[in-house]
Amino acid sequence: MDWGMKNRLSRMIKADGRTVMLAVDHGYFLGPLNRMEEPKKTIAPLIPYADSLMITRGTLRTSIDANQDIPIVLRVSGGNSVLNEDLSNEGITVCIKDAVRLNVAAVALSIYLGSPHEHQTLINLGKLIDEGQEYGIPVLAVTAVGKELEKRDARYLSLASRIAAELGAQMVKTYYCDDFAKVVKSCPVPIVIAGGPRFKTELDALQLAYDAIQEGAVGVDMGRNIWQSSNPVGMIKAVRAIVHDKATVKKATEIFHGHKSA
Ligand code: R5P
Repeated sequence: MDWGMKNRLSRMIKADGRTVMLAVDHGYFLGPLNRMEEPKKTIAPLIPYADSLMITRGTLRTSIDANQDIPIVLRVSGGNSVLNEDLSNEGITVCIKDAVRLNVAAVALSIYLGSPHEHQTLINLGKLIDEGQEYGIPVLAVTAVGKELEKRDARYLSLASRIAAELGAQMVKTYYCDDFAKVVKSCPVPIVIAGGPRFKTELDALQLAYDAIQEGAVGVDMGRNIWQSSNPVGMIKAVRAIVHDKATVKKATEIFHGHKSA
């Protein structure tokens, strides 16, 4: 692997081999989600606890201070909205030169296996990886399921993660599932997990993070379960303790409750 690619990956995955990515890119097809109406206000207090920020270029340019030292994982796929039943009709929405201009650590794109636009999204991934190779920018492939959340089982996620890695993605973001260790075992590149829609309790989300780490994920790329929490800073601190400090769920819950939201 070339120096630039390695260096960018090391900005995302820390020396302990782990990472806490904060996902705030949802607006690219979901618009202003609850608690992300004003991205600047929501994101700023969380940045000190995140290893990187997964974000769109619009929110990056309008809402993040460029003086801040936070690696950027730029969402570069899109082209649909939640108003459509099928969310898989995505293209590449950002050229690689703009990603370079934004000094990103990585670019991220969704693939939709088994969807009407499977082929198109896999070709998008191939093209993006070619461009990433040219500039030394790693690609994070997101194994997206659109509205079909029930698709998230080990068989499907292994298939999608492995195909992403076979096509050359340097990292994969997928979902946690039963038998998640199998997904990790058959994917030769590092895996992070998304949190998915907000759970009933923070404890559920912390348990998810803990289980994923135990079964081989290098970290999380979590959004709603952090910033839609009533105590977002407490939540990201708790997740961080699980990912980087080997905290148990009990310890992480104490950390969550120990931080009082302003
Ligand atoms: C989907 O909108 C994005 O790819 C998110 O980055 C991803 O789903 C992770 O965020 P969450 O933990 O909220 O699912």
